[in-house]
Amino acid sequence: MDVNAIKEKFQELYGGYLYFSPGRINLIGEHTDYNGGFVLPGAIDKGMLAQIKPNGTDKIRAFAFDLNEKAEFGMNEEDLPEQGWAKYIFGVVREIIKRGGKVGGFDTVFSGDVPLGAGLSSSAALESTYAFALNDIYNLGIDKFELAKIGQATEHNYVGVKCGIMDQFASVFGKEGSLIRLDCRSLEYEYVPFDPKGYKVVLIDSVVKHELASSAYNKRRESCEAVVAAIKKRHPEVSLLRDADMAMLNEVKTEVSAEDYMRAEYVIEEIQRLLDACEALKKGDYETVGQKMYETHAGMSKLYEVSCEELDFLNDIAKTCGVTGSRVMGGGFGGCTINLVPEAKYDAFIEKATSEFTKKFGKAPKVYPVRIGDGSRRLA
Ligand code: GLA
Repeated sequence: MDVNAIKEKFQELYGGYLYFSPGRINLIGEHTDYNGGFVLPGAIDKGMLAQIKPNGTDKIRAFAFDLNEKAEFGMNEEDLPEQGWAKYIFGVVREIIKRGGKVGGFDTVFSGDVPLGAGLSSSAALESTYAFALNDIYNLGIDKFELAKIGQATEHNYVGVKCGIMDQFASVFGKEGSLIRLDCRSLEYEYVPFDPKGYKVVLIDSVVKHELASSAYNKRRESCEAVVAAIKKRHPEVSLLRDADMAMLNEVKTEVSAEDYMRAEYVIEEIQRLLDACEALKKGDYETVGQKMYETHAGMSKLYEVSCEELDFLNDIAKTCGVTGSRVMGGGFGGCTINLVPEAKYDAFIEKATSEFTKKFGKAPKVYPVRIGDGSRRLA
């Protein structure tokens, strides 16, 4: 029996399409997106895969292959499904409908190889997969930026995370071999070829997942907004931290909480760090890029307070192993560090990070070598 031939025949006769969207890394520029700053993400070769077939009804029947769970739900606001994973699919459908897109019910099975809760944006990969697929299947003519915004709005309105645009943008726009420098205020972007000769980029997953990550994330965003509100009283032109500088922040130092001040200080510095790192990248100066990554880690740990003991430990090991740059990646509160490692030091670093981490925390970290891949696409 030829299993593939049967699958192909079914698809040819009755339709159904296969779509993929990737997770992402981010070299530098963290918690800058919702502040109108810059980010430097790239799509990875891991992501979410979904087979989708319109079913001629107004219901969605979805099956999460990796969880062995199914859900069935309608497409009206009151039909919000209970399962967390199904909310992403439902949210994407709702956001498309809110924008005037006409979609019908469909049957779908999805699966992923991007680790969940590791800071690699598995949820954005899921949103982008369905946004891209439904746009394609129903010929909606939605542009790529709007597809990313549909994923972001799903997070805001159906998941409760007030995220920025980086993850969904990277998933939809990814390009093999390139990072993407995105100005999150103007939404102008530029592909930056990334092939650091003599180095490897690797993620070390602390396997820590913090329960309160989404509320803590939203709180960081509120701090930034509180500081902007204070600065705006003196400088009406400031509507995002991107528009502010340290002098402005210091003018309001006594008017904002010490905590909010620290948060804003981190963001203002991080926006500049990304620009400096991009300059260094252009010159192939990876030492400076790496230095900036370490500075980002320090800022995320001490000022923005989104690191944790396990991630700080991995960062310290990286330093002792001569790793060029290392930092907590993504939203934080667990997940991975991203490391720029000289090839000659790679094996020793992985060995030491694994053994020391296991000794200290009683569980092994996971290691993911990074390959930069393409964005959302139809596979069959
Ligand atoms: C999460 C969010 C992004 C971004 C990062 C931090 O991944 O979804 O929008 O804010 O955290 O840079």
